[in-house]
Amino acid sequence: MEKKIKEIKSYVLRAGRMSPAQRASYEELYKDYSIEFQNNYIDLESVFPGKDVIVEIGFGMGDATWQIAKDNPDKGYIGIEVHTPGVGKLLHQMKTNNVWNIRVIEHDAVEVIEKLFNNESVSGVHIFFPDPWPKKKHHKRRLVQKDFIEKILRVLKKDGYIYAVTDWEEYAEQMLDVLSSIDSLYNPYKGYATAQDWRPRTKFETKGLDKKHKINEVLFRKN
Ligand SMILES: C[S@@+](CC[C@H](N)C(=O)[O-])C[C@H]1O[C@@H](n2cnc3c(N)ncnc32)[C@H](O)[C@@H]1O
Repeated sequence: MEKKIKEIKSYVLRAGRMSPAQRASYEELYKDYSIEFQNNYIDLESVFPGKDVIVEIGFGMGDATWQIAKDNPDKGYIGIEVHTPGVGKLLHQMKTNNVWNIRVIEHDAVEVIEKLFNNESVSGVHIFFPDPWPKKKHHKRRLVQKDFIEKILRVLKKDGYIYAVTDWEEYAEQMLDVLSSIDSLYNPYKGYATAQDWRPRTKFETKGLDKKHKINEVLFRKN
């Protein structure tokens, strides 16, 4: 019998409850403001006609997502997250703050990038405070590694950007090393990027700052 190889995932699904308001927003809005995972490329032009599309991977509770989308009504945002309460929270924030240029995808971002987005269809990718997987034996679960970045590169437009931020020093070094090692990317900064003042603080950034962690940012563009 063929043995199924267990895929290494970058996340562990956590339990978590939604508040009644988040649950109500989820039930009301999910249908119209989500994209279902599928094995075919979707037409982003029909999702966000005439808009550049920015993808956020692992948006958590979506704090940065809705605020950036609100500040940039000329762009379309796709947030990918596996944690259902976070999806409920973001949909609730969209309703509360009247921000509608966001679609959520509740699925593994690695599969979404691979299966859903056409070549050179995305203008930017945000990865804010990805799980650091600090133990060496878990490093293979980290999202920012060459294989996944190469998948992102396929969907990224020329001059599109990858912007990743972490409070985990040694993961930041890995991010810089991985992105620097890819010929089709260039770094407009010397080493780490200067803090982007348009990025709102996220829940995990606050946790890192409380522990006195340094925040490092990397921002590379596609040649
Ligand atoms: C440490 S949290 C950071 C959340 C948020 N960006 C922040 O800064 O507060 C990482 C998030 O990424 C999500 N995540 C990890 N791997 C993922 C994947 N492959 N696809 C979608 N979401 C993922 C987790 O569920 C979690 O919510």
